[in-house]
Amino acid sequence: MERFETSTAEETRALGRQLAKDLAPGAILALVGDLGCGKTAFVKGVVDAFGDGEEVTSPTFTLVNEYAGTVPVYHFDVYRLDHPSVEECDWMDDYFFADGICLIEWADNIREVLPEHTVRIVFSKNPQKGEDYREIILC
Ligand SMILES: Nc1ncnc2c1ncn2[C@@H]1O[C@H](COP(=O)(O)OP(=O)(O)OP(=O)(O)O)[C@@H](O)[C@H]1O
Ligand SMILES: [Mg+2]
Repeated sequence: MERFETSTAEETRALGRQLAKDLAPGAILALVGDLGCGKTAFVKGVVDAFGDGEEVTSPTFTLVNEYAGTVPVYHFDVYRLDHPSVEECDWMDDYFFADGICLIEWADNIREVLPEHTVRIVFSKNPQKGEDYREIILC
């Protein structure tokens, strides 16, 4: 387990850039945590590391956005899904088992279909430590 703390969105983005160095094609990161906890900020950092400068926008309606670059990054946001069946998630395998990096916001909504090698990153706030404080735990 690794634990990080950030106090600005830019720091969370920088953490994404830094941790991207340890990611190889095929990696799957489950990004877990409430609304506004910094999951997308973290994704921006990973796309900074691998992408070609394209701006990251949340794939809330499309479920997944693809960023081309030195390594493709597949950015999922499955906020709107509620434990769909394995069959309904079949299409995701094309991403999970491709030569890119999958980042999945709200991954607990589809935890039944996540591959075993998925790494979990939990984002949380702590109001006692200020509005912009975030704790980020990698399990
Ligand atoms: N330390 C921090 N890390 C990340 N974001 C922060 C931090 N402090 C403040 N913020 C603000 O919190 C918000 C985080 O938004 P972000 O879209 O990254 O969250 P999210 O977890 O993806 O939310 P959602 O579940 O709605 O997709 C932004 O408005 C950002 O400016
Ligand atoms: Mg988000």
